[in-house]
Order: sequence, then C-alpha cells, then structure tokens
Amino acid sequence: MSFLGSELPLIQAPMAGFQGAALAIAVCKAGGLGSLPCAMLTIEAMRKELSAIRAATARPYNVNFFTHTPPAADAKREAAWRAALTPYYREYGIDPNKIPAGPGRAPFTAEAAEVLEEFKPAVVSFHFGLPSPSLLERIRAWGAKILSSATTVDEAIWLEAHGVDAVIAQGAEAGGHRGIFLNDDLSTQPGTFALLPQVARAVKVPVIAAGGIADAKGAAAAMALGAAAIQVGTAYLLCPEATTSAVHRAALKSEAARTTVLTNVFTGRPARGIVNRVIRELGPVCPAAPEFPLATSAIAPLRAKAEAQGSGDFSPLWSGQNATGCREVPAGEITRALAQGLSR
Ligand SMILES: Cc1cc2nc3c(=O)[nH]c(=O)nc-3n(C[C@H](O)[C@H](O)[C@H](O)COP(=O)(O)O)c2cc1C
Repeated sequence: MSFLGSELPLIQAPMAGFQGAALAIAVCKAGGLGSLPCAMLTIEAMRKELSAIRAATARPYNVNFFTHTPPAADAKREAAWRAALTPYYREYGIDPNKIPAGPGRAPFTAEAAEVLEEFKPAVVSFHFGLPSPSLLERIRAWGAKILSSATTVDEAIWLEAHGVDAVIAQGAEAGGHRGIFLNDDLSTQPGTFALLPQVARAVKVPVIAAGGIADAKGAAAAMALGAAAIQVGTAYLLCPEATTSAVHRAALKSEAARTTVLTNVFTGRPARGIVNRVIRELGPVCPAAPEFPLATSAIAPLRAKAEAQGSGDFSPLWSGQNATGCREVPAGEITRALAQGLSR
C-alpha cells in the first residue's frame, strides 16, 4: 500500500477536458490512483462523474481542481485578441459577433467543497497553488490527503508551509498547464530530473514526480532521484478510456509530437502542447491573449470548425515532451507497465 492509499505509488494525472470517470476507474482498478479533473465540470457534472467512480470501485481516487483567481474582463485585451483571430474567423466563415461564451475553467469553490463532502475522496489535488485556508480545512475534515503542484523549489517550500501532505514536483517536460503560481517567469521551472532531487532535499513531505515519465525506466529513474510516487499524464492520452479527440490522437501518434512548446494561445495561461498552426502564427506566447481562462471563448469556434474538418490547427494538443509512452491500449495496461519501474 502506498502513502496515497492506492496499491501503487502512481497517480494518473488529472487532465481536464481529456478524461472523465472512465479513465480514473480503469487506473484505480489496476492499482494506481485514478484522478477526476474538475476544472471544466459544472457542479452537476462533477457529482455525476464522482457517482460513477463510487459505483465502479471502492478504491481510493484523487479529485483535482484549479485554484486561480478569475480575472476581471478586460475589453481592450479581448478586442485585441479578437482582432488577432479575425483573419481566421473570415477563413472559416465565423461571425465574431455570435461567439458564445466558451467552456471556461472554474477554480475550487465552497460549492465544489460541498459536493466533495458527499463523496469524501481520499486525495484532493490542486494546480496553481492552494485554495483559501477555510476551504482546505473543509477537505481536511474527512481526512483527505491534500496535494499541489510545484514548479520550483520555492513553490514546494511554500506548499509545505501551507500544509500540503505531498508536493507534486512538475518539471518543464510536463504536458498541459504549468502549475506555476509564485511568479510568472517560466524560465524558473527546471526539468523534472533537476527539480525533483532539489525538492526532495528541500521538503519533508513526500514528493511526487511529474513530467516526462513515459515508461517503467522513467518511473524507476524518478524513484531513484527521491520521488515517493509518480504522476503520469501524457502516456494515458491514447487510451480508449480517455476522451482525447481524433485530431489530438493523430498528432500524438505522429512525428509532430516530438515538438512541443509552452503556449498561452488556448487559455491565456502557459501550457505545453504539440506545435500547430495557431501556435506557429500567433504564438507560442501571444501578448494579446486575455488572462486565463478568458482566452478560451474566442478561439473555441475556430477549434470546433477546424476539428469538424479533421484539422487540429486550432486545438490545444496538450502533450509532454515525451509522448513515446502513449499507446492505444486500456489504461490498466499502461498502469501495469509503469508499475514495473516502481518499488513497492
Ligand atoms: C492533456 C493534459 C491535461 C492536463 N490537465 C491538468 C489538470 O486538469 N489538472 C492538473 O493538475 N494537471 C493537469 N495536467 C498536468 C499533469 O498534472 C502533469 O503535470 C503532467 O501530465 C505530467 O507530465 P507528462 O504529461 O509528461 O506525464 C495536464 C496534462 C496533460 C498532458
């Protein structure tokens, strides 16, 4: 039994927008800690997914939230962003005046805490820091372990001082959003194998390695460098239980997956994804992109139209720097393969 309560010291990384209960259940059944990402779920959807997990397995699981402060709308920046996208709206015949509010990303709230109180998950993890102390206390009340991502030694020390039970050391290789929260200088995030031993030395709580771990050898290397567990995201993206889109799956299987970059063009916050047309032409970092998560709405209709035509030109093709662990096999198989590198 690992310190996380799961048989294996292995967390399937929560991946908002790319998976629901099905992936979490499959990983739990294989002995890992499955995760349900909630950043893009309504309260009702969250309750439904949590009910599905509870119905399928009695094993421990992780529920994950973002903890950003929703920004005030900035009309000037929104106008600049829409101006940057206008040539594409024309190309795809999209009326910019008829763009609905896109799928946002919500932070952890008291309402979400209330739902969690019904389910009492064994582990709750956060990205972009931590919620308020009073919300954390509510989670602690049923004995859940609290985790959060650190992209620097300073963030790891901060998280420990604010009461986390374990730190997820997220290295630069990792796919998806940076967990960075103490500053916005992306050059401060080292690679996983530089960050991990330094974090392990700096904090007393267990350290979970994330970023670039694709197979048993990577898992073993992380454990050798001081990790108490690993968190793996990208390697699960081709599993049938993930909801990864067809264009995203095709990109992950192609040579394009060798070139990833940190970009803010999809959400307003830097995240690692496979380079595609909109990143090449507007990014990777576009100053006009509104603050997270407000950039999402204006680009969403382009993504929808392009995907309908089989193109990933406007899709967030999130991937870590090492997509070689992606295989079109059930998530249980990926979990068992990674477990070969973990000493129990
Ligand atoms: C498609 C995708 C979506 C992600 N979404 C989230 C998320 O919702 N919450 C979170 O805490 N981390 C998220 N991450 C980051 C992971 O927690 C983790 O840091 C990363 O997957 C580890 O690196 P790897 O992708 O190389 O395995 C996401 C990663 C990917 C690849």
